[in-house]
Amino acid sequence: MRILLTFCSFLALLLTACDPAPDGTSEDSASATAPVTKPAPAAAPDDRFRPAYHFTPPGGWMNDPNGMVYHEGEWHLFYQHYPDGNKWGPMHWGHAVSTDLVNWEHLPIALYPEGEGYIYSGSAVIDKNNTAGFGANAMIAIYTIHDMKAQKAGREDYESQGIAYSTDRGRTWTKYAGNPVLPNKGDKDFRDPKVLWDEKTGTWLMTLAVGDHVEFYNSANLKSWNYLSSWGKGAPQHWGVWECPELIPMKVEETGDEVHVLLVSTGNGGPNGGSGTFYHTGYWDGKFFQPLREATYSPTDTVKWLDYGRDNYAAVTFSNAPGGRTILMGWMSNWRYAQDVPTESWRSAMTLPRELSLHRNDFGTRLRQQPVRELKKLRRGAARKLVEGRIEQGITVIDLADLPEPGVFELDVEFDLHGNSQELSFTLSNDNGDQFYRFGYSRRRGFFYPYFSDRRRSGLTDFSDHFAPDKLTVADQQTNESVTRFHAFFDRTSAEIFFQGGDPVITDIFFPEEPYTKLTIESSGGEKDMDGDVGWDVYRAEMWGLVE
Ligand code: FRU
Repeated sequence: MRILLTFCSFLALLLTACDPAPDGTSEDSASATAPVTKPAPAAAPDDRFRPAYHFTPPGGWMNDPNGMVYHEGEWHLFYQHYPDGNKWGPMHWGHAVSTDLVNWEHLPIALYPEGEGYIYSGSAVIDKNNTAGFGANAMIAIYTIHDMKAQKAGREDYESQGIAYSTDRGRTWTKYAGNPVLPNKGDKDFRDPKVLWDEKTGTWLMTLAVGDHVEFYNSANLKSWNYLSSWGKGAPQHWGVWECPELIPMKVEETGDEVHVLLVSTGNGGPNGGSGTFYHTGYWDGKFFQPLREATYSPTDTVKWLDYGRDNYAAVTFSNAPGGRTILMGWMSNWRYAQDVPTESWRSAMTLPRELSLHRNDFGTRLRQQPVRELKKLRRGAARKLVEGRIEQGITVIDLADLPEPGVFELDVEFDLHGNSQELSFTLSNDNGDQFYRFGYSRRRGFFYPYFSDRRRSGLTDFSDHFAPDKLTVADQQTNESVTRFHAFFDRTSAEIFFQGGDPVITDIFFPEEPYTKLTIESSGGEKDMDGDVGWDVYRAEMWGLVE
């Protein structure tokens, strides 16, 4: 992998490191003249690694989710897309819709990189009151225009913000003739606008990533923007360029306090390597973001990570979600190896949609993520009980060969951390002998990072040194609760594990050469108690086969 993410702009390096697309198309030949109706390429039949129920592009390259918005019964997912190759290239906005957040229908590409530049990440809103003049309830996309020619000519002001609108439920798009609506003022990294309607001020509010900080702008009409403030220069999280920020208004469930969550993705320095997403909780007064000052009992550092796995980047939430829901999706990959993963006709999947809630405990004000309730639709048949009452010391092997889709299932286990055993783990393995993915809870590794996952021998791993370095993925326990839960979703090539009510979360991708068809539960370590027992009290341990 030739992307080194140490000092300057991650993206500038990424661009220079990009291989030409496999079909020989170079970055220069942006599909600028591509017709708007061009269909996405059909999927190749040999795609053994394509997920059974996660969103993937029909073909070609995908990175960040973009413009996620709910409108008239449909969830819209746009995404960074290069349809003509399986590596990053001239960026389009791919498009899909869903009525249930589970089944996605591919639609024609929404935005093409024409003369003005590549279409980088951004957001979409529904303009209920016709503030922009494109019509009441127009869908308006706000995105970064990345002028590749200007960048190659050595200029620094090559990123600016543009808008496009659709008055037919996102089916056809018109770029605004007055673009850019927010010109560059000399910042090399100036991108990824996430816009919301700010109830406090009755204006549109944009959060923008500007290298090592975020900037806030507001607007009455989405066409002209006023600078409000910036935040983050002094913050400690500067391991890579900041990208894809979002300011999310939320309420603390326990107290009802109104708190804003500032999500920021960073190109490097993620909790277990490579790119990752952190957040701060704070107050938004209509002009400034002020982080909460909390005396917390965090056993490790002060960074709050959205996900401890290596595969959840550029995650943001849907705009206009009904019922006040805050629903997030991320790109299920990592810039360190995304372009090298062993898939051919397509690359990358999105995470499952997750519902966010905000909670306050001794460890601070923290996000919890839960897979959206709609995902229950994926379950096939009744729950299969794995264990009743107690997991004793030793090994239980469960045959998964009869699932509707091999290796594709949901697991839900709740147990008491007061068990006197030291480690409880779950291992998915295949008949290939030694390919496995393992995760669990361990006291062996000390108090700080009890949750772990291990993909070192999960299958194909040698396509990148960064994919499975010789260490576990670990996550903090951020609560004093004594009951924990492992709620996990496995697809052919991914695991999303919601520990302890959704904080922490580990999202990992993997590429077993044959599907995982065995689940091994193992309890190990520890001393017998007075009754001669070693093990864990279990409140629930069940699973469901899943398919679309
Ligand atoms: C994040 C990112 C964004 C940018 C886009 C380009 O993964 O680098 O900052 O807009 O991807 O594809």
